[in-house]
Amino acid sequence: MRFQATITCKTSNIAVDIACDKEETKRMLELASIPVASGGICVDEEDLEDVIKKIGYPIVIKPLDGNHGKGASINVTKWEDAVTGLAYAKNYSRRVIVEKFITGFDFRVLIIDHKLVAAAKREPAHVNGDGTQTIQQLIDETNQDPRRGYGHENVLTQIDVDRDTTDLLEKLGYTLETVPNRGEVVYLKSTANLSTGGTSVDVTDMMHPENIFLCERISRVIGLDVCGVDIMAENLTQPLKENGGCILEVNAAPGFRMHLAPSEGLPRNVASPVIDMLYPPGKPSRIPIIAVTGTNGKTTTTRLIAHIVKNNGYKVGFTTSDGFMFKIT
Ligand SMILES: Nc1ncnc2c1ncn2[C@@H]1O[C@H](COP(=O)(O)OP(=O)(O)O)[C@@H](O)[C@H]1O
Ligand SMILES: [Mg+2]
Repeated sequence: MRFQATITCKTSNIAVDIACDKEETKRMLELASIPVASGGICVDEEDLEDVIKKIGYPIVIKPLDGNHGKGASINVTKWEDAVTGLAYAKNYSRRVIVEKFITGFDFRVLIIDHKLVAAAKREPAHVNGDGTQTIQQLIDETNQDPRRGYGHENVLTQIDVDRDTTDLLEKLGYTLETVPNRGEVVYLKSTANLSTGGTSVDVTDMMHPENIFLCERISRVIGLDVCGVDIMAENLTQPLKENGGCILEVNAAPGFRMHLAPSEGLPRNVASPVIDMLYPPGKPSRIPIIAVTGTNGKTTTTRLIAHIVKNNGYKVGFTTSDGFMFKIT
């Protein structure tokens, strides 16, 4: 049995390809009457103008096959910013998705073997003002948290200051040297991906049954055995059809960290459904072992046992003083 991150040897290659293409994913979901953000694909500014004419501001611009929020511009409200956003996204992908900006919170739902396993509400990296420290000092303090590591090495990730951060601060008229008021929350990223320093709250038990049904259906539409669904909505306690929530994308190899060690709420054992899928309960999955001990004659006894077992139709591996033997026949 092989794994790579949360891809299993049973994961369909075609499903991964579909999930990696946000447009194809949206098209398939739309055909199944699943709510997605309206928009289109752009290669140049002409396309951009056409799409904006069709859907209107505010918009989101993101690379067609991006991940971890890279290259995305969120809540773009004017033409100049749209042009910059297009150029920025094009650093990551030739084709770019332009779609309606949906308001709400970022949710990630994990579906394994087409059954809901966990749901988390994600918050972008942020600091809480204390009235004395600058934003930079607050970031440094937040990064001291022992749960924060680099990349995916720990349950949370360090907050790096990048273009997205400085843009967001600029919109507020802030710099890294600004001292936010006590209790003020300053967001440092426009996306809630854990890999850019975001945090998560477990909301599994709060999902409306209709949303559970919807997410399980999505995993079947895409055909993905370990499936992460990104949703933007006010909440998951009401059906998405009622609160205007949308599916943003479907992820192959979804991260488990936010469910295994949420910053708040109940941790979920999301690994065991994967193992149960690969080794269904009741299916023989053990390798019986026979141990032979004694002074003289262990090798002969072992060979004899191996011979008997092999003639009963089993594949046998054994080790003796002569070395390790295993024949695939
Ligand atoms: N249409 C949208 N409306 C509002 N926010 C969005 C939209 N599309 C993306 N985002 C924000 O950007 C983040 C990253 O977008 P997503 O489509 O999930 O791509 P990625 O593969 O980079 O995770 C989302 O989690 C969400 O916060
Ligand atoms: Mg995402």
